Amino acid sequence: MDSNNPMRFRTHLSTNNIEKDLRRILDFFAQTSKYISKEIKKSNRKTAGTVNMYGEEQLALDVIVDNLIEKKLAHEKSFGIKDFVSEERDQIIHLNTQGGRYSIAADPLDGSSLVDVNLSIGTIIGVHDGPIEPFRPGSKTLVAAMYFLYGPNTTLVYTAGNGTHEFVQDEVGNFVLCQENIRLNEKGKIYSPGGNRNKWLPRHRQFINELEENKYKLRYSGGLVPDVNQILEKGGIFTYPELIDAPQGKLRLLFEAQPTAFIIESAGGVATNGRERILDLTPKRLDERTPLYLSTKKEVEKYLPK
Ligand code: F6P
Repeated sequence: MDSNNPMRFRTHLSTNNIEKDLRRILDFFAQTSKYISKEIKKSNRKTAGTVNMYGEEQLALDVIVDNLIEKKLAHEKSFGIKDFVSEERDQIIHLNTQGGRYSIAADPLDGSSLVDVNLSIGTIIGVHDGPIEPFRPGSKTLVAAMYFLYGPNTTLVYTAGNGTHEFVQDEVGNFVLCQENIRLNEKGKIYSPGGNRNKWLPRHRQFINELEENKYKLRYSGGLVPDVNQILEKGGIFTYPELIDAPQGKLRLLFEAQPTAFIIESAGGVATNGRERILDLTPKRLDERTPLYLSTKKEVEKYLPK
C-alpha cells in the first residue's frame, strides 16, 4: 500500500472478495455514518421523553439516528434490504426493498448516555443473510459486522469474515485504511470490567482478581464500542458478566454482543458468555441479553469451564 495514497474503504471492499450487495450495504453505512456524525455534533442533548423497550430514557439523538438509518435504508435503490431492526425498536421492520437478501440489526447510537459528558460513542451494525426471524445462531446468519467509533477520530472497523480491518476518516470525510488484518495481542495489559463489583459472582470476581494480580490496568469508559476497540487495538479483556440480580448481564445479544464477537473472532480472539461461544447462541427474543467476555483464548481460558 502506498502510504501517501492510502486505500479507501470502497476499494478495500471491492478487492476483498465480498458479494456485491453486501459490499454496497457496508459502503452505505460508511456514508450514513457521516450523517450520524453530523447529528451528534448538532445534538442539543435534550431527551425525547420516550422510553425504549428496556425502560431506559432515550436521548433525542438515539431516536434521530435510528430514524435516519431506517429512512435511508428504505430509500436506497442500489441494494435491497429484507428486514431492519434496531435496539431502539421492539418490532422488526420488513423493508423487503427489491426483494432484498440481507437484514440489518443495528445499535444506532451505542453509549448515548455518554454524549452529555462528551466521551466516545459508537454505532454497531450486524448484517445477516436472510430474515431476522426465525432466529438462528449468529454463526449461521451473520455475514458482516462493523462499528463506527466517534472519538477524537471517527473510525470504522469491519469484518466480512475475512479478517478485521480498521479505517479512519480523513479531513475530507473519506474512510482510509489504517490497519488491515488486525490480530489481537496474545496477552494484553488492560481489563475493561462492566457491572457493579458487588453484583459479580465469586467465579468472576476471582478471575478479575487474577488479572489485577497480573498487573492488568483498569480501562473502562462505559461505552461498548470504545471499550471493545481498545481491546482490539491494545490487547486485554472486556467483560460484562452475569450479575447476582441480572443473570443475563446487560448487553444485547443481537445488537451488541454478536457483532462485536464477530469482529473480535475475525481478529483471532474469543467471544463467550462464560460457557458458550457468543456466535453459537440463538436469540429467543429481540431484546435478549447475554454476559460477554471478549479477549484472546489465552486470557479467557482461565475463566472458561475446563
Ligand atoms: O448497553 C449500553 C451500554 O452503554 C454499553 O455501550 C456499555 O458497554 C454498557 O451499557 C455500560 O454499562 P454500565 O453503565 O453498567 O457500565
